[in-house]
Amino acid sequence: MKHFLDLADFTSDEIRHLLDLGSTLKQELKNGEFRPILKNKVLAMVFQKPSLRTRVSFDMAMRTLGGDALYLSPQEIGLGKRESIADVARVLSGYVQVIMARVFAHEHVLELAKWASVPVINGLSDYNHPCQAMADALTIYEEFGNLKGLTISYIGDGNNVAVSLMKVATKLGADFRIANPEGYDMPEADIEQSKKFAELSGGSVTLLREPQAAADQADVIYTDTWTSMGQEEEAENRRKVFPPYQVNQEIVKLAKPKAIVLHCLPAHRGEEITDEVADGPHSRLFVQAENRMHAQKAILVDLLTEGESDAK
Ligand code: CP
Ligand code: NVA
Repeated sequence: MKHFLDLADFTSDEIRHLLDLGSTLKQELKNGEFRPILKNKVLAMVFQKPSLRTRVSFDMAMRTLGGDALYLSPQEIGLGKRESIADVARVLSGYVQVIMARVFAHEHVLELAKWASVPVINGLSDYNHPCQAMADALTIYEEFGNLKGLTISYIGDGNNVAVSLMKVATKLGADFRIANPEGYDMPEADIEQSKKFAELSGGSVTLLREPQAAADQADVIYTDTWTSMGQEEEAENRRKVFPPYQVNQEIVKLAKPKAIVLHCLPAHRGEEITDEVADGPHSRLFVQAENRMHAQKAILVDLLTEGESDAK
């Protein structure tokens, strides 16, 4: 069973194929074309955490391709609490054709995938956020035509979003930089893995502490919240550590003149990003949010139409 859990599981060619497909499906929607590729397919969306983009973009991805989606709140499912994850996976597999799950512990989405007999998509875990990275890559791809040779600089917490961004960037030949405070590094194993992807693709990974060094002549500047969902108890301390890592005009001025600024959202304006930058000429925040839907349409079509060559 093919799942979508981690970009490390996909080759560069497979990722490029998904980006091309996402781009085509976006264009078709903009042209008013309707292809019910996912007719009679239903997605179950299991959430342990809140969401705006993931929930709505997956729902609309299914609807615009002729399928349907069910939202299952944390209260309804009680993943691993009311019922074991293995049982939830097997029950849902009898009703729907694909499952998307947003979980706290990454092991929970792995456990769902282990027991499900339908594809499982990771809609964010504490460890990674691969759907977000596909939307990020699609946005960069639309802007620059390629990721190869670009400098993609992430400034802030070495979190789930950073890990997936590093993977997609290094799979596609970009020079990935991260500047984060000491103690907020990405997992060592993922850094090592991405360095290997970079060796194959011609990209690189650079670890920095100075946000100015990361921003210097960058093509893409990316940031995310200082406190991710589930870390609320650390918020006060993080607010003391992270202010030097704010993406503001001074930081953006160091990047290339045509650089773009990305943020997965939700943004904490005045903390990791200023209004001036979020609403400024370099910002692509809302195209990026829209691209969640198009990137995920490609993922859904790929998982649900295996062997049906005319769908893609
Ligand atoms: N970027 C993102 O995943 O947003 P939501 O938490 O609103 O789904
Ligand atoms: N790093 C953030 C991303 C939210 C989409 C979090 O996990 O809360």
